[in-house]
Amino acid sequence: GKDGYRHYMEKELHEHPLVIGQTLQRMIDPATRKVVLPDMPCDLATIPRGVITACGSAYFAGMVGRYWLEEIARLPIDIDVASELRYRNPPLTPGSLGMLISQSGETADTLAALRALKGIGLPVLSVLNAEHSTMARESDVVLGTVAGPEISVASTKAFTAQLTVMACLTIAIARARGTIDAAREDELVTALLDLPGRAEEVFSRQADIRKMAEVVAEARDVLYLGRGSVYPVAMEGALKLKEISYIHAEAYAAGEMKHGPISLIDRTVPIVATIPSGALFEKTLSNLQEAKARGGRLLAFTDEAGAGRLSAIAEQTIALPKVHPFVTPIIQTIGVQILAYETALLKGTDVDQPRNLAKSVTVE
Ligand code: M6R
Repeated sequence: GKDGYRHYMEKELHEHPLVIGQTLQRMIDPATRKVVLPDMPCDLATIPRGVITACGSAYFAGMVGRYWLEEIARLPIDIDVASELRYRNPPLTPGSLGMLISQSGETADTLAALRALKGIGLPVLSVLNAEHSTMARESDVVLGTVAGPEISVASTKAFTAQLTVMACLTIAIARARGTIDAAREDELVTALLDLPGRAEEVFSRQADIRKMAEVVAEARDVLYLGRGSVYPVAMEGALKLKEISYIHAEAYAAGEMKHGPISLIDRTVPIVATIPSGALFEKTLSNLQEAKARGGRLLAFTDEAGAGRLSAIAEQTIALPKVHPFVTPIIQTIGVQILAYETALLKGTDVDQPRNLAKSVTVE
């Protein structure tokens, strides 16, 4: 049942802290505080590249994974949506590690991509919530997201669990490749272990996010902007808004705005920015200033440190809990998902069963 929540989506949003914690318990040995992986079908120290594929939200989890794996583990990543990868016949490097991400383990395109990767002899690691699914049976190794059943068509907790697994996988691959030392590894593990508590705190901002939703619910089109590892979070926010509120939303890498979408900006097109403080803050801020100068209404997800700087230009600012920069995509995700949920409530849509959508897309 919904445990007193109005929708499964609301219940599942509130399960973020629990699910992140359970997933970490599965992947991190509490005694050594080390990420522990099952036996791998290849030597992580010597794989030349990784190839990631998935659909929908799971693909955005893969995009965040690419930022992490390339920056922290120095592993070059090819990434594509499964419906493209399966027919593209790309010249993949022999010995690359295939990585698939899926909540259901039954998505037709992702399954076909799995078979294509195996068909050319690549080892395949799958990040799956359904551990008894077709993909689980056909993969060489499965990393489980411990999200429990997800009923809402719009994915919430399964997505943050996928990010949590990708973060742990990054740490393990970085260790194997010697790109992080023990101190850095401990710092990253500590950042992850801090997450369930911080995720819980996000809900104390729900009333403020609801006020933001009042602006979004009035719009016909919404732009989402982010840079770096929170760019895919902007994409996740835009997808979730489209799915459940039927408001048109597009996400852009903040630096791309001036290459086209800036012509859309006026009072009627609100801009939702994922902009945590940190290395890319100033860059995104200057993009937002450009948008503001053209009459854009800015709605920002940041943290305490960023809120001070944004207050001068943003109409509304949500200060999310402060976390280590590594895990900001996870905390930012919860913010944009709540925004989509609150907007859908205002629109009065069927939140758990949006029109035209199925929970598991088992046809091409
Ligand atoms: O079961 P999967 O993770 O393979 O599903 C992939 C997508 O269909 C899924 O993430 C979809 O985009 C969600 N409805 C997003 O909320």
